[in-house]
Amino acid sequence: MTWLITGGAGYIGSHVVAQMAGEERLVVLDDLSTGRADRLPEGVPLVVGSVLDRELLDRVLADHAVTGIVHIAGKKQVAESVERPLYYYRENVDGLRTLLEAAAGAGVRRFLFSSSAAVYGMPDVDLVTEDTPCLPLSPYGETKLAGEWLVAATGRAHSMATASLRYFNVAGAASAELADEGVFNLVPMVFERLEADEAPRIFGDDYPTPDGTCVRDYVHVEDIASAHVAAARRLAGDPAAELVLNIGRGEGASVAEMVGIILDVTGSTGPPPVTGARRPGDPARVVASVDRIAAELDWSARHGIRTMVESAWAGWRLRHPGVPA
Ligand SMILES: NC(=O)c1ccc[n+]([C@@H]2O[C@H](COP(=O)([O-])OP(=O)(O)OC[C@H]3O[C@@H](n4cnc5c(N)ncnc54)[C@H](O)[C@@H]3O)[C@@H](O)[C@H]2O)c1
Repeated sequence: MTWLITGGAGYIGSHVVAQMAGEERLVVLDDLSTGRADRLPEGVPLVVGSVLDRELLDRVLADHAVTGIVHIAGKKQVAESVERPLYYYRENVDGLRTLLEAAAGAGVRRFLFSSSAAVYGMPDVDLVTEDTPCLPLSPYGETKLAGEWLVAATGRAHSMATASLRYFNVAGAASAELADEGVFNLVPMVFERLEADEAPRIFGDDYPTPDGTCVRDYVHVEDIASAHVAAARRLAGDPAAELVLNIGRGEGASVAEMVGIILDVTGSTGPPPVTGARRPGDPARVVASVDRIAAELDWSARHGIRTMVESAWAGWRLRHPGVPA
């Protein structure tokens, strides 16, 4: 069988491609808006174009005899989605609808979708299960939740096995070349401050958590990729699957703890972290329950936080050669 990987030239997509390429025939569709062609391994064909281009999709699905799709392409910046909701709905929802329409028309029977813990909003629970109510706080989170509904409804109507994978806080890299280039998550944000010889910032230390800073579930991008391999196998053998699964480690780490590890790994001698006011809309704690993915896919995360930070730092230094060792 052949899998189409949309967004395969991006940060997460290139890790999924690297792992799935060992098992399956692949073709990547990416408009390279944030992706890079040189992230793809040799032998994996890249079609440059958008998931909004229906004619192109029909051609790719037919030319490559695609039987399954992993839809990772999307826009992911929460703050930008607040300023440009129409753009986010077009890219993330219209893009997905166009792709599903093409997939149903071409008789594709397996569909995996990149969702996000952003669908939960501000969950007031110790561990977030897939049954925790979804109340997204941003247009970005809304597009992911609407996307899950579209995927499930299409799967039921068109005999497609489906899985929506809710990633928690993704970090790390399999190699320096594949590292995240965006500065939207905690780890690269701290790297950026250190490089500028500025103090890392912690937003709020008066949350009801053990050290007062926010707690999140950080998961290595290699673990995210291996969960896709497991999910793809499951969908191939279970035509009626309709899965919604958290992907996390099931363990929280606080912002202060993460910053401490980053300072240690980078050997920073710059100014110590400063604590400011809370940011609006930041939940105190968001940690995944990972029981369902363990039961459904026999999968669990293998990498710890230090490995995530070390591998992300190797990627940062590759792209910022002036940074001292
Ligand atoms: N990085 C995270 O922490 C995180 C967490 C939860 C969910 N996600 C989701 O995972 C997916 C991938 O995120 P990422 O971190 O790899 O981001 P990324 O920006 O590195 O990757 C997105 C890829 O999709 C491509 N793309 C964007 N719009 C496209 C379009 N219309 N047609 C074709 N290709 C298009 C980009 O060029 C890029 O290669 C996104 O859907 C994101 O919402 C990411």
